[in-house]
Amino acid sequence: MGDRVHRVAIIGCGRLGQHYAEAYSTYPDTEVAAIAERNPERLAAVGERFGVRALYADVESLLRDEAPDLAAIVTPTKFYKDAVIACAEAGVKGVSTDKPIAARLSDADEMVEACESRGVVYAGGNLQRAMSEVQEAARMLRRGDFGELVGASVHRWSLEISGGGCQQVSVLRLLADAEVTEVIAWGKPQEALDGETDDGLAIDGLFRLSGGIDCPVFSAETPRRGVDVWSADSLVRWDWAAPELYRGFDGEGSRVRLDHQYAPYQWSEFGYLTTSIRSFISAVETGSELAISGHDLRQALEIAVAAKHSAKWGSVPLKLPLEDRSLALYPRPYRWLGGDASGRPQPVEEARSG
Ligand SMILES: NC(=O)c1ccc[n+]([C@@H]2O[C@H](COP(=O)([O-])OP(=O)(O)OC[C@H]3O[C@@H](n4cnc5c(N)ncnc54)[C@H](O)[C@@H]3O)[C@@H](O)[C@H]2O)c1
Repeated sequence: MGDRVHRVAIIGCGRLGQHYAEAYSTYPDTEVAAIAERNPERLAAVGERFGVRALYADVESLLRDEAPDLAAIVTPTKFYKDAVIACAEAGVKGVSTDKPIAARLSDADEMVEACESRGVVYAGGNLQRAMSEVQEAARMLRRGDFGELVGASVHRWSLEISGGGCQQVSVLRLLADAEVTEVIAWGKPQEALDGETDDGLAIDGLFRLSGGIDCPVFSAETPRRGVDVWSADSLVRWDWAAPELYRGFDGEGSRVRLDHQYAPYQWSEFGYLTTSIRSFISAVETGSELAISGHDLRQALEIAVAAKHSAKWGSVPLKLPLEDRSLALYPRPYRWLGGDASGRPQPVEEARSG
């Protein structure tokens, strides 16, 4: 840990933004220096709650007056792009957004490019890929502890393949240490295929991975809901928790689960938001690898866009990267527009007290 204190701006301080503000207020090397929040009552409430006086209605006025080191952008997804680009142009050293990154591929490209071209670290927020135990399992795989991977699968990729489904895709790419190079998909129901959002869309299909593995994708619970990767005698199974590890077979041919103790980590009260933020800070300080990056969020969007369009166009195999960057897939209204605009506003009393 470096000895300087990073001044952090929270952009969008609703339900999840307040979780970020709590975490950044707790770590000894970060402070919440400023908040931009569109809802004036909520802005006043979170300012008081986190002891922050530099309060703004939008990111532009914040950046005119303040020079934060880091910006945690936790507005609804629709507003991520403008905030990321404004922060990168203003000289912020690192930005994070949450999920999903955007709706349109070209928007995600612009966001990643705005940061890359200026040497700004772009971190990917509160995703399970950043979970300490998921990262540890990935290091074990990388070290060869389970032998050479020969298979992978994705389970229950449905309901919202971009909004929530970017969790499976991000973990898959990490555990398999591979990119998805081709997608072929079947989707239902027809209303969801015809619509613009990922709401209710269920996808079955196949992801072809760099390295040659063909990864089946199941829309249903099998009863698993996450990602499996396996070698000849081992299995690593992420099911929205610390991965289960299996090596070898018992007398009946069943897999044997290892009694693996994952390493404990500090500030675990914030769960994988902590491991995500700590890797973000370390990347800003030392250039180390991010546990979840803006690039990872972009890849997740692209895979969801490819699956939706493959299914819609008659299960055509689509190679990635997609050539047509105007393709889009919107998340459900809560993620795109936020609680205030979609009928689920956070009450001010909750914003005040947590
Ligand atoms: N990683 C996860 O597990 C996870 C969980 C929940 C939400 N999310 C994502 O986090 C984002 C926010 O979700 P939430 O639950 O906090 O929603 P929310 O509606 O509770 O909060 C969003 C806040 O942003 C503010 N806002 C809207 N536009 C703004 C703007 N242009 N500038 C400044 N503030 C603005 C709103 O007033 C609101 O307070 C969404 O993109 C959502 O998909 C991710």
